[in-house]
Amino acid sequence: MEKVLVSHQQNLDKRAFLTVENLRKAFRDRKQVVEAVKDISFSVARGEMIGLLGPNGAGKTTTIKCVLGLVKPDSGRIEVAGVDCLRRPRDAARHMAAVLEGARNTYWRLTVWENIVFFAGIHGVSKERGKDYFEYLLEVLKLKEKRNVEVRNLSSGFKQKTALACALAKQTPLVFLDEPTLGLDVESSYELREALKELQASEGRTIVVSSHDMRVIQDVCSRVVIVSRGRVVVDRSIPELISLFRSRSYKVILTVNGANGSLSVEEIRRKLESSFPLSSSKATKDTLEIQVSLKQPAEIYDLVEFLRTTGASIETISQEEVDLERAFLEIVRRDNDSCGTQS
Ligand SMILES: Nc1ncnc2c1ncn2[C@@H]1O[C@H](COP(=O)(O)OP(=O)(O)OP(=O)(O)O)[C@@H](O)[C@H]1O
Ligand SMILES: [Mg+2]
Repeated sequence: MEKVLVSHQQNLDKRAFLTVENLRKAFRDRKQVVEAVKDISFSVARGEMIGLLGPNGAGKTTTIKCVLGLVKPDSGRIEVAGVDCLRRPRDAARHMAAVLEGARNTYWRLTVWENIVFFAGIHGVSKERGKDYFEYLLEVLKLKEKRNVEVRNLSSGFKQKTALACALAKQTPLVFLDEPTLGLDVESSYELREALKELQASEGRTIVVSSHDMRVIQDVCSRVVIVSRGRVVVDRSIPELISLFRSRSYKVILTVNGANGSLSVEEIRRKLESSFPLSSSKATKDTLEIQVSLKQPAEIYDLVEFLRTTGASIETISQEEVDLERAFLEIVRRDNDSCGTQS
């Protein structure tokens, strides 16, 4: 990966609420060793909501489980609220709650309300003390009508929201949400995002969200930590990351008439491919639509020169809108390419 994107070491803030440093974890069975986390470092400030992203198997859930004390790392340092999680796991656990991927760890024979009261209770928040806040959670998560329904009779979206309510009801300053919108329909996913934003704004909790749904991350988080193959490849604010990619993605439409020494469509395509590996093109009868992602902003001069030498006329040239999903895909693709070239 390019240096410019891998700036996570700079973000290891001494005043952070959560610090993960040089985390390593390999799973071993008789047949093989899986290096789930090779070297992960990042930090999260108090009150910040960050996205932990990465392709399947990148090491996100393992990292979260190491912080929560559910998986013992091979090496590294984890600190939450100044407490060393590896030396004092019980003290650290008091500061955290989580909804883990797929696991809706609620009691299915208890109602929504009973679950909330139970899980808050085991974290030291009594019904008397937490009552108003529990009501508020039901309201924000649109669970009010379901409060007396046994969890086993809820749809999966409401089960997910109940799990979230149970985690939030513990009122811990740090919350991990691993795939919180998995299996939710569009409306429920939207509602959950709105609820998260409201909770974040009103409570300023420190939240780490892991999701493959980029709309969720782009909507609720200020910063992303992207992991790939067990390492951090990007640690940046979302607007910064997007503008980095926006300034480098261009769409050009050419009219190719093949006259007077100008190149043919096939010649242009071949030359484009060899000059700009991060490009693609689409030809229609008379036009060629080119998409180019530049590795460096200064490559725009090479692009202009390339276009000149084709002899084709430029109909339009525009910078492309880039969203988080596009930036993410590009980052993962580049990381996989660099893995191919290393091996
Ligand atoms: N208990 C385990 N035993 C053996 N291998 C494991 C175990 N847990 C995770 N792994 C492996 O570690 C790697 C990282 O898994 P992890 O669940 O952390 O990825 P992830 O980034 O959360 O992926 P996803 O997006 O699919 O949830 C994977 O190759 C996975 O198969
Ligand atoms: Mg996972």
